[in-house]
Amino acid sequence: MSKTFFIQTFGCQMNEHDSEIMAGMLIEKGYEPAKERKDANIVIFNTCSIRDNADKRFFGTLGQLKKKKIAEGENFTVCVSGCMMQQQHVIDTLKAKYPWVDVILGTHNIHELPTLLDNLYNEKEKQLSVWPEGGDIVEGLPSKRLYKHKAYVNITFGCNNFCAYCIVPYTRGRERSRCPEDILAEIKRLADDGVREVMLLGQNVNSYKGQGKDGLWDFSDLVRAVNDIEGIERIRFMTSHPKDLSDKLIDCFRDCSKLCHYFHLPVQAGSDDVLKRMNRRYDRARYLELVRKLREVDPDMAISTDIIVGFPGETEEDFQDTLDLCDEVGYDSAFTFLYSKRKGTPAAIAEDQIPDEIKHERFNRLCDSINSVSQAKNAAYVGRTVTVLCDGPSRRNSHKLSGRTDTFKLVNFTGDPELQGKLVKVRITSSNTFSLEGELV
Ligand code: 5AD
Ligand code: SF4
Repeated sequence: MSKTFFIQTFGCQMNEHDSEIMAGMLIEKGYEPAKERKDANIVIFNTCSIRDNADKRFFGTLGQLKKKKIAEGENFTVCVSGCMMQQQHVIDTLKAKYPWVDVILGTHNIHELPTLLDNLYNEKEKQLSVWPEGGDIVEGLPSKRLYKHKAYVNITFGCNNFCAYCIVPYTRGRERSRCPEDILAEIKRLADDGVREVMLLGQNVNSYKGQGKDGLWDFSDLVRAVNDIEGIERIRFMTSHPKDLSDKLIDCFRDCSKLCHYFHLPVQAGSDDVLKRMNRRYDRARYLELVRKLREVDPDMAISTDIIVGFPGETEEDFQDTLDLCDEVGYDSAFTFLYSKRKGTPAAIAEDQIPDEIKHERFNRLCDSINSVSQAKNAAYVGRTVTVLCDGPSRRNSHKLSGRTDTFKLVNFTGDPELQGKLVKVRITSSNTFSLEGELV
């Protein structure tokens, strides 16, 4: 009997790409993807542990499978993978409360998934494989992309920064960079396979240090080489740490025609005191200087950010600094987060935790302020003609197509679904807070 699988992904692009790789490996082994979770006989949850609500959502969703697992036994397989599995207390909870889970897999060894499934079926024994540390980078894994024309490409794994609130260095391990030759070969293969846009992925792409045959490459060297690959039309990257953003990289925006004019530059907070206690290793002035340099290259450079509200000890004055900084930068968009205690991180044991009501109240004020700026930025696009890489039918309205501008603005427009994967000209007719409406030119 053919086995079908469904992967449900929580969290960031890194997790999405890990899911694509797991899907690629399973398809290579003859498993078939199911359209919906209810139709699959293998369900994989790829988890995130960045915030407490991600944990809670996962356990809630996992619980939904218990009845089916008990009823179907060996004919239904439940696997859990991702960042949460790198934490011992999660493994303990799974063993105690969810003993019917069949496979537990960590972040450092997703390539083992097919073998673990074979073992499960042959030996009829539950499989647990979580490596505490990342070993050598495994190259050549297949990937089942969500889009034919867009691809994620890992360039670094892990993070060395230990921001005081963040669990990632513990769940994804120390930073490792792939060799430039391996990355470039992968992107050439993707270009041959129809990919027009690549998103270079890493927790901190700016600190990329790849050992090439001709010496050490930094991130800007890599961007320049990707820019030379025929067939690739757009280059994006995610995420950047302000402390490692070099002038050399900023120069790439002048020289590399394929590099999209969109920069995601997480600031986290606007107060120097909070930034210091977060262990971010830049201050407000340095951050604003970087924004100024990016806008010097292109005044229309879109800039987005991540902001945490309610970090331990954040005063109303500190929070005002964040509001002021947002006004000064004028973000195109921002991902805002309520500070969430993560077990094992320094900030979790700080005594001056902020009460929930204050956090929520500040959060709402910040969102209002950010949204009004986003709205104004989007409104400025009305009447302009922009180039959009068409992603196909819009997720919200299947009668429309959607795609992104170079500056990552989401544009909805009417057209032939055949345009999927093509760069098209669209005239913007109206704007919303989070998207633009337009018509094909
Ligand atoms: N609480 C709230 N937000 C967090 N982030 C990371 N850790 C936490 C936490 N403990 C946010 C940061 C990061 C984004 C991916 O998630 O803003 O940039
Ligand atoms: Fe977490 Fe900081 Fe590393 Fe980003 S740079 S993954 S916020 S520790």
